[in-house]
Parts: sequence; structure tokens; C-alpha cells
Amino acid sequence: MSLVLENITVTVPDGRDTLTILDAVDLEVAAGETVALTGPSGSGKSTLLAVAGLLLRPGSGRVHVAGVEAGALPDRERTRLRGGTIGIVYQSANLLPSLTAREQVEVVAHANGRLDRAARDRAEELLVRVGLADRLSAQPGQLSGGERQRVALARALMMEPAVLLADEPTASLDPVRGAEVMRLLLEETTRLGAATLLVTHDGDQAAGAGREVRLERAASTVG
Ligand SMILES: Nc1ncnc2c1ncn2[C@@H]1O[C@H](COP(=O)(O)OP(=O)(O)OP(=O)(O)O)[C@@H](O)[C@H]1O
Ligand SMILES: [Mg+2]
Repeated sequence: MSLVLENITVTVPDGRDTLTILDAVDLEVAAGETVALTGPSGSGKSTLLAVAGLLLRPGSGRVHVAGVEAGALPDRERTRLRGGTIGIVYQSANLLPSLTAREQVEVVAHANGRLDRAARDRAEELLVRVGLADRLSAQPGQLSGGERQRVALARALMMEPAVLLADEPTASLDPVRGAEVMRLLLEETTRLGAATLLVTHDGDQAAGAGREVRLERAASTVG
């Protein structure tokens, strides 16, 4: 299993009480598998993704990423593990306004160590794969929403992540562009053997994934 979440609980202080956002959640995603994470608004899907992405330490439970249990790691090691093994795509592309499509993808290699010739070639190859061969030098302002989201997907794939996390990646797209980004995401998951966790409200997308895991609202207040 490339991604294993075990007994994850997240609580936040709520005045004098404690609000439970995730209550003992278990989830496993195998290499090459796409799991759709569904559930009502507020059920904790984005919170669980933040835990899986090592961006949020759970109150209790364990997170295993590519065979490494992240709980005991100091922050610096967690950051390194995240950079090398986890790709994240958000609802909006979050691109840097002044960089070209090519640079948005290359910058990941730069941040993780070295931007060498092989990394440059790989960035270009990924952008070609997502259908942006003729948009390599375009900045975000010159790209459509669907094109920007495809750049974000290429960027998430740059380090050949063992784990790919996507939080409603097609929410800002029309159905045709959304389906296209979904197709690429499923294709690249298989090609790279990534463990992909996809948050979606779309029933068709959930059905298109290998498996669906539904969160129910945990939120309960304990005094
Ligand atoms: N830092 C925080 N402090 C307090 N409450 C929080 C915090 N983060 C999240 N919550 C609450 O936790 C619950 C789960 O939030 P989360 O964003 O994970 O839900 P979601 O399932 O992604 O919802 P949506 O489908 O609307 O994106 C919500 O009720 C939210 O208000
Ligand atoms: Mg959310």
C-alpha cells in the first residue's frame, strides 16, 4: 500500500469544547489505484487530504506514505518526504503568475534538489502528455482554466509521486474540460503506479475511480 491512513482523528478547539472533524478514519490506497473520496460538505474530505499530504498532523493515528510512517518524523523530514513522494492538485490551479507553463513544472525539480537537463526534458514531456505542447511558454494569464489545471496536474506529477492527492481538481472546469483532466489523472495514475486519492462531488467521477470511500459528518462537540 502506497498510502495508509490508520485511525485518523482530528479535533479542533471550539471555545471551551472540542470539535471532532475526523473520527478514527481508516483508508488505504494501493499503487496504481484511484480512490474517490466523497461525502457531504464539512465531512472532512479536505482535512483528510491535508493529513495524507503531511500538511496537517492528526491528533492521533498513523500516516504511512510509500512505506514510511510519517508521525515520528521531524518537520524537515516530513517536508522532504512530501516533496519527493506526494503530488497535490487543488480545486484551482494555484500557479505562479509570472512563470511560464514550463517553468511552473520545472520549479518543482528546483525545489527538490536539481533542475538538470533530464528534469527539463521531463517537464516538457509531461506538458506534452497533458496536451500543452504548444503552450509551453504561456503564462497563467494566457491560459484557459482547463489548461491551467492541466499545468497543475503536470506539476504534481513532476517528481513521479508515489501518492497523488487531488481536491476537487475539476470543480472550476466545464464538464468537457473536467472530463479531460479526469481522464489524464486516471491515465497517469496507472502509468506511474501512483496511489491517487481524489476528492469529488461528481457521481460520474466517483464511479470512474476504482473505488469510492464516503466520509460522513463526524463533527460532534464534546464538552
Ligand atoms: N482549522 C479549523 N478550525 C475549525 N474548524 C475547521 C478547521 N478546518 C476545518 N474545520 C471544519 O471541519 C469540517 C471539515 O472541513 P473540510 O474542509 O475538511 O470539509 P470538506 O469535506 O472538505 O467540505 P467541502 O466539501 O465543503 O470542501 C468543517 O465543518 C470545517 O468547518
Ligand atoms: Mg473540501
